[in-house]
Formats: sequence, C-alpha cells, structure tokens
Amino acid sequence: MSSKIVFDPHSSEAFLTKEELEKAEKDVLAASKVLLDKSGEGNDFLGWVDLPVDYDREEFKRIKEAAAKIRHDSKVLVVIGIGGSYLGAKAAIEALMPNFYNETSASTGEGCEIYFAGSSISARYLENLVKLIGDRDFSVNVISKSGTTTEPAIAFRIFRDMLEKKYGIDGASKRIYATTDRQKGALKKLADANGYETFVVPDDIGGRYSVLTAVGLLPIAAAGLDIDALMEGAEDERMQLMAAPFEENDALKYAAYRNALYRKGKEVEILANYEPALHYVSEWWKQLYGESEGKDGKGIFPASVDLTTDLHSMGQYIQDGNRILMETVICVDDARCDLKVGYDENDLDGLNYLAGKTIDYVNKQAMTGTIMAHVDGAVPNMMIHLPALDEHSLGQLFYFFEYACGVSGYTLGVNPFNQPGVESYKKNMFALLGKPGYTLK
Ligand code: PA5
Repeated sequence: MSSKIVFDPHSSEAFLTKEELEKAEKDVLAASKVLLDKSGEGNDFLGWVDLPVDYDREEFKRIKEAAAKIRHDSKVLVVIGIGGSYLGAKAAIEALMPNFYNETSASTGEGCEIYFAGSSISARYLENLVKLIGDRDFSVNVISKSGTTTEPAIAFRIFRDMLEKKYGIDGASKRIYATTDRQKGALKKLADANGYETFVVPDDIGGRYSVLTAVGLLPIAAAGLDIDALMEGAEDERMQLMAAPFEENDALKYAAYRNALYRKGKEVEILANYEPALHYVSEWWKQLYGESEGKDGKGIFPASVDLTTDLHSMGQYIQDGNRILMETVICVDDARCDLKVGYDENDLDGLNYLAGKTIDYVNKQAMTGTIMAHVDGAVPNMMIHLPALDEHSLGQLFYFFEYACGVSGYTLGVNPFNQPGVESYKKNMFALLGKPGYTLK
C-alpha cells in the first residue's frame, strides 16, 4: 500500500466539460505561479510554504523538551487558544491518538490528559474543566498570536490564577508555556514579565496555516506523538507539490476541480470522513478554507459530515436537497484494525451474512455505496486517500490542504491570507461590554 496521500477526481469529471476543466487548469497554474513567485496579495503570509524544510531547529528541540517535561510533571495539559491557535493541534491529537486518549491516559497513568479551553466563552465549560483537573498536577500552553483575543485571554486568567494558587507565582511560571508573537502583544509582555517559556508564532504565518509551527507542535508533542514524522510527511508532500506537473500534482488538481465545480453552481463543498477521529481535521479544514476564500462576496462554503453517522441526519439533504453540493471524501486506506463481525447461531439481528468480515470492510462498502448514491443524486465526488491515521500521512494532508487552499484562493481572485470579516463581531462585543474606545454604530 502506498504511503503517499492521493487525490482522485473520481466522478467529478463527469460533471464538467473538457473546456471547463482546461480553463480551471490554466487558472490554477497561473494562481500557483503567483503563490510561488510571491507576487500576489497577502504575500507577506507565505512562511508556511517552506516551513517543512525551513523551521527553527533550536525551537523544535525546545518543543520536544517542554513536551517531555509536561508529560513528566503534569497529569493534565490545558491548551488555551481559539481558531488557528487551537484547531490544528486538536485535529492532529484527535486523529492520531486513540479515540479515548484522555480516559486511557487517566487509567494507565502514562503521559497526560489534554483538554482545550479558550475556544468559547462558556462559563460552564471552564467551571467543569476546573473541577475535572481538581487537585491534580497540571500545566498550561496558552497560544495567541495577537495576545489579545478575548476567549483565550479569559480562559488564561482562570487557569493562571488556579496555577498561582496551587504552585505560587514562581512555581506557576514554570508550568506556563506561552506561544505568541516573537516581540509584541499582551501575552508576550506577560510572558516576559513572569518568565514563562515562550514559543513563536512566526510573523509570516497566519493562524490557520500555523499547525506545523509551535502553535500545533507543542500540544501534539505533549500528547506523545512523533512530530519528526509529522514534519517529514509535510516535507515529502511539499517536495512532490513543488516539482510535479499539473497531471501529477494532487493539490493543483484538487484546486482545479473544486473551482471548476464552483463555477457550475456547486457552491458548497462537504468534506466527508468515515472515521470519527477525523472530525476535527474537518473543523481545521473548514477554518482554513472558510477564512481563506470566503470574502468579497465569493467563496465555496466549506461544510463537513462525519459518516456514516450523519447519513442519519444530513443524508436526506445531501441526497435530495438543493443541488449546490460537491463532496470530498477522505478515505483512510488502512484502518489498521482487524476487528470482525462475529457469528451468532440464532442470527436474530440478521447479521450473519457479515460474519467473519472486518468492520472496516463493512465501513468501506458503506462508503462506496454512499458515494454512488450521492453521485446519482448529482453531487460530484472527489476523494483523498490517506494511507493511514499516522503522523506521516497527516503531515502530508496538512500541507496538501494548505497548498491547495492558497492556490484555490488566488484562482478565485481573493487574498487567501487575510480575514477582515473576523473583526466585525469583536467591535460590537467590545462596545456592549464597555471596553474603552468602542461604541455601537
Ligand atoms: O486564522 C486566524 O488568524 C484566526 O483564526 C486566529 O488564529 C484566531 O482568531 C486566534 O487569534 P490569536 O492567535 O491572535 O489569539
């Protein structure tokens, strides 16, 4: 089995004419030139392009050391961040750790449990997390590029206070790891004033492209995952995408097909997975594509479904609702699990026809049948084959999606690296909360 991720246009070709595909190919090639020449809008945010081969080795070593210390001295790590400052780490940890990793870690006493905070303003969530930590040893990784985002700032106050009460100011400062701007911002000031160990969100990498920086790497390493293999996967994918002509270039093809389908009225792209562990990869992908493309009145709306679960909730719409959908399926080729359906003498549930088959075989047949039905229902299908749920494959997938997203955004004619719309709600919220300098319009 290949260890390389593969994009397959699958049935989407049948929904497009030769001319439409040729036009999309031409536009995507022009967009990729703009990206690589660094001649487009947002070109000061292209640090992620060479990141897999050009990252700070000294910081990478410190990340591993900090992760080992956290695993040694803490039963719990609280990762505080929102949007691009948490989704990559959450996606990787959920995808690669066992499904019930926190419960497993609690029962075996190995490593540490990992919880995320600061991605909402829910008092209930914070209170429950404080209770869950109880009197156990814990550490905090607070992640904010700007250092001023309200949600993580509130969560950090709560957990910093808890740490300081438990360990004293000095003890707490040895358990707080701040990932933020190299020089500026409130969090950087706080970290310097208190002597927290700091890691850098590079100036030229936006939040949603930051999973392979310290933003993603420290929590991922603290979970016990192999960040060398993750970076190697990204490096392999980068090498392939930089060198390959269009016909062999998975990211360019993905960008071309989705743009060609969008031009034909397929305005919503659903990312579908058949592994619950991939739920947060879809959340990460939605932010990446939604924030990068949704602007100037344009953009494919990124949606996601977990299958077969959501066939029992969203299935009707996908099959039969407004025909504005295209679907991209992430297929994990090797489930690495041989669990089989058992044989039952009485067969009251009528499942003996599956006895002896692996559950993954059943899952794959469900996937194939679903794709056929969706295509029949005029939902074009594309596929991404992931060799397995491992670090190397996920490193490839992260880079593949980032590269395709940059190219897709330029193909669409937007700046894929800004997010002006994200500020709008904040102005109203600050005015309502009475923050100095803000008034409602
Ligand atoms: O992609 C982005 O830039 C955003 O989603 C940010 O990551 C998010 O708003 C958090 O910002 P910060 O890291 O400054 O707290």
